[in-house]
Amino acid sequence: MDAETVLTTTRSVRRKLDLDREVPQHVLDDCLRIAQQAPSAGSMAAQFRWLLVRDADTKAKIAAYNRETAEAAWAQYGHLVEERALASAQHLVRNLERVPVLAIPCMIGRPPADAFSQSAYFGSAYPAIWSFQLALRDRGLGSSICGYHLQDHEADVAELLGIPDDVMQISLLAVAYTTQREFRAAARPDIEDVTYLDTWGSRG
Ligand SMILES: Cc1cc2nc3c(=O)[nH]c(=O)nc-3n(C[C@H](O)[C@H](O)[C@H](O)COP(=O)(O)O)c2cc1C
Repeated sequence: MDAETVLTTTRSVRRKLDLDREVPQHVLDDCLRIAQQAPSAGSMAAQFRWLLVRDADTKAKIAAYNRETAEAAWAQYGHLVEERALASAQHLVRNLERVPVLAIPCMIGRPPADAFSQSAYFGSAYPAIWSFQLALRDRGLGSSICGYHLQDHEADVAELLGIPDDVMQISLLAVAYTTQREFRAAARPDIEDVTYLDTWGSRG
């Protein structure tokens, strides 16, 4: 798959995850190796970790925490979300324990308070997360971030997985082969609407 195709067609896959197909560890390892090439700020690369969860009981417990927070949020705000997007998110959350692999990127050290350090902290995780997602796509797998549990149950999941108090779970990704190979570029705002020249709001 050429770079432009993989960059423009890597979608959040929720309904099209193949819940019955095993994901070999060597395939994940290849994707993780690629993600290790992502940029990071200064020494932050040394703080980054992945925790992969395959155990069925553990996945079921994580999924229950995830579902509890997500369902509560949807009860309150679900009407504000586009119907199709909501149904897609609900499908994943309600089937999360069936997803072959849950991947939890973590950062050692809690998030800092100032903008400069926050930028370095989160900015040293998401390039690797996205590289991982791109590498998965290139190999016929898909993923979606599904981090609802972080709102109310980060500590519960940390206890379940033995994650120390000073480690933050940055996110949670559902990972599986996809039931289709073709995905399309999504509709996004035109670059003219999101790009300014020289001063805020100016298009030059
Ligand atoms: C930081 C971050 C958090 C996200 N959290 C969730 C989530 O909790 N649940 C979910 O279904 N999708 C989540 N997503 C995926 C977005 O909903 C998705 O990227 C967006 O709808 C655009 O769709 P696409 O990825 O298919 O282009 C998250 C994405 C990012 C970057």
